Amino acid sequence: MLIDNLKDCVKKNYKDIKNPVYVYNKDVIIKTCQHFTEIPYKNKSIHFATMANCNPDFLQIIKQAGLDVFVNSQLHLEEVKNVGFTNSQIIFTASSISKEMMECVYREGIQINLDSLTQLEFWVNKYPDRNIGIRCNIENKFHRPKTGRAGSFIGENSRLGLTEDEINSIKTKEQINGLHIYVGTDIIDIDYFTSFYESLIAISDQFPNLEYLDFGGGFGIDTKNNFDFELYGKKITEIMNRFSAKRNKSIKLILEPGRIIGGEAGFFICKVTDIKFRNGTQYIGVNASSTQFPRPLLYPNESNHPTYLFDKSGNLKNTKEKDTKINGCSTYSRDFLSHKTSLSEAKIDDIIVLGNAGSYCSSMYTEFLGFKKPKEIFI
Ligand SMILES: Cc1ncc(COP(=O)(O)O)c(C=O)c1O
Repeated sequence: MLIDNLKDCVKKNYKDIKNPVYVYNKDVIIKTCQHFTEIPYKNKSIHFATMANCNPDFLQIIKQAGLDVFVNSQLHLEEVKNVGFTNSQIIFTASSISKEMMECVYREGIQINLDSLTQLEFWVNKYPDRNIGIRCNIENKFHRPKTGRAGSFIGENSRLGLTEDEINSIKTKEQINGLHIYVGTDIIDIDYFTSFYESLIAISDQFPNLEYLDFGGGFGIDTKNNFDFELYGKKITEIMNRFSAKRNKSIKLILEPGRIIGGEAGFFICKVTDIKFRNGTQYIGVNASSTQFPRPLLYPNESNHPTYLFDKSGNLKNTKEKDTKINGCSTYSRDFLSHKTSLSEAKIDDIIVLGNAGSYCSSMYTEFLGFKKPKEIFI
């Protein structure tokens, strides 16, 4: 269905694609938001992680679909306020937060998750009247932290959060109203999520005033298997019901999905400007740069973006017989938009489309090399 919409879009917009653009399918974004809002557990709020995509039109769509937001910087805080999110709809989670930023979050009455004992001590001394959450970096006897991108978010190699020893040493436990955990990114293994959630619950008894558990994000799309929302919803509801019953009060569930909300809804579209062959591989040059589509630059081995080739009338060429690399039009040797794919033989003015481009793509744009931030279109 997505690819049919895309074909239409390429056909209709071909003439306008003088410069590279991001195109998003609104319905797909809304549908993904609904998967979260339909999780049966009632006392919940779903905070979209704005680092995945902070385009104001994107934020409007997720707002209308009933999501709140999670931000980690001053600029994103301003952006979400500009599109109308109220302070109670915002969660601030970051690390090494400046005193000025803490003051701002305090003044605005925004819920914050702190990342270290030092920051906690500062907050408790300065703002004894305001409860806070803490980000927990805890181990799990069933799963080693996943290696690669996920491995650096949790576990002994991660710089983030408070370790179990640090958590146990906290003196001001009654001022903690929430526990936060972020298990990694691009994960579809539901047992992996839930076993870390259970570990968080296992350390929660020491905090008498808990109001929420924030299980972060990490929901994956870089795979052929779709994320099983039904199973996830069932399991998380069971976990939260059990926990609320144990606490004898309704504990709020907070999730912070990023990538999955718009990832598959977004496409990057650019035009073929050059073709070369090297050792049997087709090098397709395009009127764009990896600075405009930065994931293959930042994660050369881990970015997974389906590629499509259309002729200049907008017809999909899908024989895919040529080993292909897609390169940008700069002089930078690492300027690749795809390191390895298979496509039909390309011609000048054909159209290249890269999928899974709705998250951590436009938001990772960099001015390095001197290419403009691409326009973003929502259809
Ligand atoms: C604390 C926190 N929550 C949520 C997210 C969103 O993660 P994802 O895009 O993997 O869902 C991130 C991303 O880095 C994060 O650091």
